[in-house]
Amino acid sequence: MLIHSQYIMHMPFLYLLPLITLYYSQVAHVSSSSLSVLSEGSSLLVEKKHHLVSPNGLFTAGFHEIGQNAYCFAIWFSEPMLDGNHTLVWTANRNEPVNGKGSRFSLWKNGNLVLTSAGQKIWTSDTQSNSQLQLQLLDSGNLVLTKLVKNSYLWQSFDFPTDTILPNQPFTKDTVLISSRSSTDFSTGFYKLYYDYDNIIRLLYSKNDVTSVYWPYFYSTSWESRRSTYNNSRVASLDSKGSFQSSDNLTFITTDYGDALQRRLTLDVDGNIRVYTLNQRSWSVSWQAISDPCTIRGICGPNSLCTYNPESGRKCACMHGYKSTNQSDLSFGCEPIHDLSGHHEKYDFIMLPQVEFYGFDIKLIEGSNFTVCKNACFDNPNCKAFQFTLDAARGSSKCYIKTFLFNGLYMGTIYNTYLKLPKNEVLSYNKHVANESSLYCSSSRTELERGKKSENGSLKFVLWFSIILGVIEFTSFVFFYYIIKQPSGTTTQNYLAIATGFKRFTYAEIVKASHKFGEEIGRGGGGIVYKGILPDNRVVAIKRLHEAFQGEAEFLAEMTTIGRINHRNLIETYGYCAEGKHRMLVYEYMENGSLAKNIGSNQLDWQSIIEIASGVAKGLAYLHEECLDWVLHCDVKPQNILLDANFNPKVADFGLSKLFHPGVMENSTFSKIRGTRGYMAPEWVFNLPITSKVDVYSYGMVVLEMITGRSPTYDQPHNDNEMLEQKRLVNWVKEKVVANSESLIETQITEILNPMIRGEYENGQMSNLLKVALQCVKEDKDARPTMSEVVKMLLPLEMDD
Ligand SMILES: *[C@@H]1O[C@H](CO)[C@@H](O)[C@H](O)[C@H]1NC(C)=O
Ligand SMILES: *[C@@H]1O[C@H](CO)[C@@H](O)[C@H](O)[C@H]1NC(C)=O
Ligand SMILES: *[C@@H]1O[C@H](CO)[C@@H](O)[C@H](O)[C@H]1NC(C)=O
Ligand SMILES: *[C@@H]1O[C@H](CO)[C@@H](O)[C@H](O)[C@H]1NC(C)=O
Ligand SMILES: *[C@@H]1O[C@H](CO)[C@@H](O)[C@H](O)[C@H]1NC(C)=O
Ligand SMILES: *[C@@H]1O[C@H](CO)[C@@H](O)[C@H](O)[C@H]1NC(C)=O
Repeated sequence: MLIHSQYIMHMPFLYLLPLITLYYSQVAHVSSSSLSVLSEGSSLLVEKKHHLVSPNGLFTAGFHEIGQNAYCFAIWFSEPMLDGNHTLVWTANRNEPVNGKGSRFSLWKNGNLVLTSAGQKIWTSDTQSNSQLQLQLLDSGNLVLTKLVKNSYLWQSFDFPTDTILPNQPFTKDTVLISSRSSTDFSTGFYKLYYDYDNIIRLLYSKNDVTSVYWPYFYSTSWESRRSTYNNSRVASLDSKGSFQSSDNLTFITTDYGDALQRRLTLDVDGNIRVYTLNQRSWSVSWQAISDPCTIRGICGPNSLCTYNPESGRKCACMHGYKSTNQSDLSFGCEPIHDLSGHHEKYDFIMLPQVEFYGFDIKLIEGSNFTVCKNACFDNPNCKAFQFTLDAARGSSKCYIKTFLFNGLYMGTIYNTYLKLPKNEVLSYNKHVANESSLYCSSSRTELERGKKSENGSLKFVLWFSIILGVIEFTSFVFFYYIIKQPSGTTTQNYLAIATGFKRFTYAEIVKASHKFGEEIGRGGGGIVYKGILPDNRVVAIKRLHEAFQGEAEFLAEMTTIGRINHRNLIETYGYCAEGKHRMLVYEYMENGSLAKNIGSNQLDWQSIIEIASGVAKGLAYLHEECLDWVLHCDVKPQNILLDANFNPKVADFGLSKLFHPGVMENSTFSKIRGTRGYMAPEWVFNLPITSKVDVYSYGMVVLEMITGRSPTYDQPHNDNEMLEQKRLVNWVKEKVVANSESLIETQITEILNPMIRGEYENGQMSNLLKVALQCVKEDKDARPTMSEVVKMLLPLEMDD
């Protein structure tokens, strides 16, 4: 099996002349192209397709063709994907492919690993050793150069990742992941994952003169992103179950936490980090760092605007008056059609509402007015645009003068950008907008008018509504001449799987789908739910929100939240309708209705109760730990947990949830929002800071209710002391079982179990579930576990079945 280069004379001087050596000697004799180890003085030859295979067969190391007659020495998953391509996890020479003839990967007698092409050293491990060595590929995907005597590693590929780390591969202060240029060009791209000086793991965009950190999110401080700067060990890894831990306190679990054949964490070509799980010869995304790809820097290049919706994905578009620099590669951005330097008489501005270009301000003028800000841009020949905000409440204003337009995106904030353009461009733009908006914006416009006349409190909402929806929806028609679709075949398509199908429906479509709201299937959460059937035969639940003011606010909260969220234990939203006074959401239909209904009618057996507890925990953990934003549900209760045909649970109704940036929890936004009686954490009642632990508490109550069959509010008159009332269930359970004992006694458990529930259960499972529930309903929020800790604690339950 081994290759022995029998003709090479291993004398030191030969190493000074590798060219000659390689040219004349090294003729390898092999019986097979697949090897388990490479010993000293042997080579893998590109023509012979020599490769090393890990003992479990999962990984292969060898020459991989990456283009015509261009090869990389790489490690890949042995089994090809459905499209026939291999997934590379490591590359020695990503920037310098070697020739398909005469290239070899050798372990020299002096202990150096060397990749040569036409006698040239292309890559080397720079190692040296007198002891006996061998190269082998481990089951973990780690290519190691082992000292046979000490059985220690002289070199290992795990120390030099390219764009991927594998489970249990440490990511340290000395390692960095760099994205590939594109899905077909594996050379070094522009995105980097690394540990920064302050011990925090970050993503950086770096190209030419522009460098910029974009994750953790650039508006948050490290503390707000829940990262810690204190631990300087700077080490992270993904374990084999899908839990990631970093010394800066970044932790997450994948959506499919548990045993899986294989996962990988990759810094993708689009600058996002994703964890992929192998699933029937294709990769599915089981976690990603950034849910709004427009916050990733550099993707659209200069003078370009990024828009994103989950249905059609990310788009880069040139602003009015600009054209694309390179049609085939949008990361080159856009350039002005007309020369913009010249006398200011010739210029004017167009407003891009809600658009922000982050960074590159040459000047910040505070406390100015619009005219002053505009003139400051007029007077500066380099000024391309300005951004002006007025905080009327505080009487303050900010004016940013911009000479370079980069990282443009819709922020949904009060920021507007005013773009400087030649007067004729401004004129054509205004005409264009007028024409287009009369075509497409009719509904939001009438709305605006109505709002003005009636002057009721909803004007603010209507404004927001028209601005956000209108602007985002019609962006492509209204503001730009040059809409360029992503070239097809880019990797973006694959990523969309994680957030699919979010559509805007017309009122007429909804009326038709719901048969004129014929079949009511539920109430609550600010609206009535009807059953419907879409033209493509999908059965859906349509939630028609109350016309009350509060219903509208809820709708917006739901819109922003759900558009970004996708998890198999969270209800999927197909779309929404916003027309006139109508606000509706279209969800997937869940055959078995709510958990409340099922507990009430004793439809569940013990096994499904355990699975529901585990599924709900996963859904909530995803809400809490999804990285860009922090989503609290705030109203976890059996009515909001729905069951599909197989009794898989999905958490529904994000009507009360809000997107948070951690750190702003104490503010008053929440004063109106409280959970539902019976499931409310003590923090609501005692006005303590609201954190994700409120959901943990509610979750614990739901689990207790499932186990005991007793509703926390069952058979109790309204009581002024809400906490006392709700604690009755908890106290009753605690009385029956000795909560602190290591393992609960069977007889104790049997006493509290709902006698109506059918099926077998295992005592260990039940005592574990009960213990977790009791921990979740602890008074002290810090004593409660996080939702992902709950997932882990419940994991053994699932395995047992
Ligand atoms: C598979 O590889 C070929 C050649 O490297 C490439 O042209 C093709 O786009 C790849 N397919 C996918 C789906 O990436
Ligand atoms: C980081 O995690 C440790 C241990 O879990 C905890 O004690 C510490 O408070 C955390 N730091 C921050 C800033 O959250
Ligand atoms: C620092 O992080 C490492 C890895 O997560 C952990 O093992 C260690 O206990 C942490 N040290 C401190 C002081 O928190
Ligand atoms: C446009 O982009 C493509 C793909 O990156 C590149 O091959 C080409 O050279 C670029 N053209 C110009 C004019 O820069
Ligand atoms: C803006 O400020 C300038 C200077 O402070 C002042 O002269 C001008 O009247 C202001 N314009 C408006 C519209 O308030
Ligand atoms: C706007 O509409 C008018 C009349 O419908 C038409 O004459 C004009 O050319 C349109 N303008 C633009 C910029 O399309």
